[in-house]
Amino acid sequence: MLVLGIETSCDETGVALYDTAHGLLSHTLYSQIDMHSEYGGVVPELASRDHIRRVLPLIEQALQTARRELRQVDAIAYTQGPGLAGALLVGASIGAAMGFALNIPVLGIHHLEGHLLSPLLSKPAPDFPFIALLVSGGHTQLMRVEGVGRYELLGETVDDAAGEAFDKTAKLLGLGYPGGAALSALARQGRPGLFKLPRPMLNSGDFNFSFSGLKTAVLTLINKQAMTEQTRADIALAFQDAAVEVLAGKSLAALSQSGLSQLVVAGGVGANRQLRETLSARVATMGAAVFYPELEFCTDNGAMIAFAGAMRLQADGRQAERANDGRFTVKARWDLEMIDQP
Ligand code: KG4
Ligand code: ZN
Repeated sequence: MLVLGIETSCDETGVALYDTAHGLLSHTLYSQIDMHSEYGGVVPELASRDHIRRVLPLIEQALQTARRELRQVDAIAYTQGPGLAGALLVGASIGAAMGFALNIPVLGIHHLEGHLLSPLLSKPAPDFPFIALLVSGGHTQLMRVEGVGRYELLGETVDDAAGEAFDKTAKLLGLGYPGGAALSALARQGRPGLFKLPRPMLNSGDFNFSFSGLKTAVLTLINKQAMTEQTRADIALAFQDAAVEVLAGKSLAALSQSGLSQLVVAGGVGANRQLRETLSARVATMGAAVFYPELEFCTDNGAMIAFAGAMRLQADGRQAERANDGRFTVKARWDLEMIDQP
């Protein structure tokens, strides 16, 4: 079964073709980061308009790379939410229209389900059940994943998401948007232990997070220092140390409390090298295993959406028989625990 995946929830247009027999055949991506960086953040209306420009050429490119024809596609999966309403509408309307024209099933996928399942695209892949740390620009959650569509929220951020904290701190340090990767690169020049920032909620006894205080602590630190290039790097490292320690500490606590032996990390911040190194080292001492998506599938992409669609169709054949009437909806806000089980 060949599934076309379309992701347009935020500032990346992602398209992919996933074949249930042969795996991922192709994926194409256009990032709008350069366009939005001028404004220091994503401008929703510009995002929607750019998705319209990119999505059809990307679909053609994905088909060409996979050496497949449109008529060979068996199902379409698009990101139904959560995300920017106007941006989501682009993927949903093109997915529904193509599905109607081809008379094939169309599935609306939860963006975070895409992220959660993305480590299964890599080898070795984790088996269900596992604990997932979902760390993106908009979300920071610890989940227990029993199977496709069966997600239990263990804890989440009470304020800023981890990626948002990286981005805001990067901005305070004069780095561009989104600053997570740039902050991480700068931190590599930082001197360990020079500054110590708080570890918010590390010992709160639950699986919730808080990152807004950390950003404020960085601001206070910046205001007290003569800012040299070296100081910026030292502060970047101090921030990253604090964020990583909290993310790793809570993830390991969730893993050990669950009695499970697999941890999965997904979302853009999952690309962070220090987070990966810390988790890998600590999980190994527990005799457990940690799984990461390929770097290119950590941030938003179409492959995770095509894959989630394929998993859902495989889990429930009736979805494939569902009548396709060309109608579609998007959900700008959508709780992952509220999604259907296949
Ligand atoms: O999953 P994603 O692409 O988009 C959302 O769904 O939010 O995540 C983007 C987030 C941004 O906040 C970005 O700064 C962060 O991931 N990020 C990183 C790194 N690469 C991307 N944060 C820390 N270290 C990185 N290497
Ligand atoms: Zn995302």
